[in-house]
Amino acid sequence: MDFDIVSESTDQTIEIGNKIGAQLKGGEVFAIIGPLGSGKTHLIKGIAAGAGAKDSTQVNSPTFVIVNEYAARLDIYHIDAYRLNSTEEFDKIGFDDFCRPDSVVLIEWADKIISALKGINFIQISLSHLTENQRNILIQNTPEHMVL
Ligand SMILES: Nc1ncnc2c1ncn2[C@@H]1O[C@H](COP(=O)(O)OP(=O)(O)OP(=O)(O)O)[C@@H](O)[C@H]1O
Ligand SMILES: [Mg+2]
Repeated sequence: MDFDIVSESTDQTIEIGNKIGAQLKGGEVFAIIGPLGSGKTHLIKGIAAGAGAKDSTQVNSPTFVIVNEYAARLDIYHIDAYRLNSTEEFDKIGFDDFCRPDSVVLIEWADKIISALKGINFIQISLSHLTENQRNILIQNTPEHMVL
C-alpha cells in the first residue's frame, strides 16, 4: 500500500511519523530519501516517539556516529548514510545485525546505499519540498495493517 501525504508543518511531519511508529510490529526497514532539509530527521523523531522512545529530543541526525540506537518498545537503529561512500561501508557498520524481528531500522539518505537493500522488503519514504513549510511525503510498500 502507498500513501501520498502533504505535510503543512514540521509538527505535522512529526505527527505522521508518530502514527507510523505506533503501528510498527518489529522487523521493519525504512529507506528514507529526500534532499537537505526535506524533513527526514523530523519524520524519524516522530517514528521513534510513536514506537515509544522516551526522549525523542535525543533523535538527531547521527552526524559523528553513523548509527544512533534508541531504546523503545522496539530497538530502533537510525543510520545516516550521508557520509557512506559505498555499499561495502554500509555492510561494515553491521546492517545485517540491526535487522531483527524485534528491531526497526531507519536509514536516512538511503538512496546512497539503495543497492545494498536488494532482496530486503523495505518501506520507502520519499520527502520533497513543496513550499517553505510544506513537504510531500510519499510512503511506499507499507505493511498491510498500516493506516495513515
Ligand atoms: N512540513 C515540514 N515538515 C518537516 N520539516 C519542515 C516542514 N516545514 C518546514 N520544515 C523545516 O525543515 C527542516 C527539516 O529539517 P530536517 O533536519 O528534518 O531535514 P533532513 O531532511 O533530515 O535534513 P538533512 O538532509 O540535513 O539531514 C527543519 O528546519 C524544519 O523545521
Ligand atoms: Mg537529517
